[in-house]
Amino acid sequence: MTIVGARPQFVKAKPVSDALAAAGLPELLVHTGQHYDDAMSGAIFRDLGLREADLDLGVGSGSHGAQTAAMLAGLEEVILDRRPAAVVVFGDTNSTVAGALAAAKLHVPVAHVEAGLRSHNRRMPEELNRIATDHLSDACLAPTASAMEDLAREGLDARSHLVGDVMVDMLRAVDLEGVAVPEWSGEPFVLATIHRAENTDDPDRLRSILEALAGMPLPVRLLAHPRLPAVAERLGLTALLEGGSLELHEPVPYSVMLALVTRSAAVVTDSGGLQKEAFLLGATCTTVRDETEWPETFEGDANRLATPWAVDDFSAVVLRGRSPVAGEPFGDGRAGARCVEVVERLLA
Ligand code: UD1
Repeated sequence: MTIVGARPQFVKAKPVSDALAAAGLPELLVHTGQHYDDAMSGAIFRDLGLREADLDLGVGSGSHGAQTAAMLAGLEEVILDRRPAAVVVFGDTNSTVAGALAAAKLHVPVAHVEAGLRSHNRRMPEELNRIATDHLSDACLAPTASAMEDLAREGLDARSHLVGDVMVDMLRAVDLEGVAVPEWSGEPFVLATIHRAENTDDPDRLRSILEALAGMPLPVRLLAHPRLPAVAERLGLTALLEGGSLELHEPVPYSVMLALVTRSAAVVTDSGGLQKEAFLLGATCTTVRDETEWPETFEGDANRLATPWAVDDFSAVVLRGRSPVAGEPFGDGRAGARCVEVVERLLA
């Protein structure tokens, strides 16, 4: 049983789903319903070629406690009913921790794809979800050597496996030349996404980020997660969502996002996945956070942590150059198959 719920998990689930099929292991794909808008879920499934979920719990949005509790109750019922031999969870969302906890309490072996990543910022919900999930899991499937080190520091080395990053598998499978991109990508632009609670929910931080983007010397195309306009309205900051260089756009499917990264002058984001995608596709990334779970992306100045309130010239940081990077810190594109090998060992 594989459990997904939020947009980045669909990307991670596809290579594992393909590898399960290749190994002849039947998969029950369960969607918690954490993301439900077509742009956040259905469109991403179709773009990835991920088959429709077998079950959708339809949990939807809510406070952390209410949302996670609804998932926990729903997933427990499914596990009791379907009796999976193992459960696989992905990444760091509320759907991840709910799936791991529901399964572990019912003594079903749990494998966590993307284990061991740490920001060391315990104020982030994702950090708490990752720590809890890793400690609940029977197999911690780590994408990087630094994730393996963090798992070892927490005493989890005996159940940790370095498999590589499943997002590399997915990225390599996309034919970037064949992707239809928006018309606006023909001229130089900065590609931006901002959705983390630590940035959106703090009015001072959000104001500072939006003003910095509006002041960039190139058009900034901000592909907005629905959370952003919702929070901006609540905080009375809607007027800052457009103006100057800043333009708001709808979220785009995965393959379009990759194609836009390759065409962009630079990327500004607080997403974990996009930092890596920029790194792998040769784009320069600025991460609007104080820490990252992906320190490998710093190589060649491909990624830099910078917030508009802490640097003198944010535009200059964003539009700096980067060097090409040798090596494969995120693996060789065969992580999905390795994840499934570990799952097979759990089943045995
Ligand atoms: C979640 C993950 C985050 C991940 C992100 C990717 C947690 C704690 N966080 O954050 O790690 O980076 O997904 O996108 O699980 N909303 C909609 N439509 C949707 C989904 C959400 O309008 O389909 C809006 C709602 O206002 C909702 C808000 O977005 O309250 C936040 O959604 P939620 O699922 O709580 O967290 P994300 O911000 O998406």
